[in-house]
Amino acid sequence: MAELLVLDRIVAGYGNAVVLDRLGFSLAQGQSLAILGRNGVGKTTVLETLMGNTRVMSGAIRWRGQDITRWPAHRRVRAGLGWVPQEREVFPSLTVEENLSVVARPGPWTLDRVYGFFPRLRERRANYGNQLSGGEQQMLAIGRALMTNPVLLLLDEPMEGLAPIVVEELARSIRRLCESEGLPSIVVEQHPVLALEMTHQAIVLERGTVVHAGPSAALAADAALLDRLLGVGMPS
Ligand SMILES: Nc1ncnc2c1ncn2[C@@H]1O[C@H](COP(=O)(O)OP(=O)(O)OP(=O)(O)O)[C@@H](O)[C@H]1O
Ligand SMILES: [Mg+2]
Repeated sequence: MAELLVLDRIVAGYGNAVVLDRLGFSLAQGQSLAILGRNGVGKTTVLETLMGNTRVMSGAIRWRGQDITRWPAHRRVRAGLGWVPQEREVFPSLTVEENLSVVARPGPWTLDRVYGFFPRLRERRANYGNQLSGGEQQMLAIGRALMTNPVLLLLDEPMEGLAPIVVEELARSIRRLCESEGLPSIVVEQHPVLALEMTHQAIVLERGTVVHAGPSAALAADAALLDRLLGVGMPS
């Protein structure tokens, strides 16, 4: 399988502080990835590094065969990295439709297709960003990334702070993006159960490096390994 993304021994951080320590993984075309790990191990920093928002001291990032290690963030967005920030960053004083329209780039994802994918956003099209529920805000944040017509979605704890019923709905949407719409994701999650159900591959980080890599289903099925890596036994 052709590689979509390769991180090769990345050393990166903020200022002089090293957070990622020779971190490496690769992702094949059409595959989605869960990035798991306890608080503060560097999960968000991996996504920030993919978007060009950290200082890379050594190592390389290859995207569709091209070395993008030194590219600025806007060029990475143009190249197909679709960023959904942890804070959701919806514009509160713009309507749903304006929030979606301002980031639009040409491609198969149009306003109509995003509304088709998230009918709730069509119903709320005239509401302002600050009039939405948490789940609707997350749909809008994903919708905004879709409007940039990405090749890969980067999601940082998309379920954080949402009610269980909304979490289920979003998890189905993210899985559907990969399975039916051909748009895979990298999903950062502290809670492994859903993330492993939503993805093909998984890596687990400790102190800025990869300590486990393999198929999500295999990790989900190995309660002892999960407990050792993340301190969370899966219900048997
Ligand atoms: N902007 C920043 N400047 C300096 N240090 C930072 C910055 N952002 C994060 N760090 C540090 O980098 C380390 C990894 O943080 P990161 O946010 O990547 O972890 P995380 O795994 O996403 O954690 P969480 O599960 O809490 O979201 C932490 O020690 C954190 O203090
Ligand atoms: Mg984080």
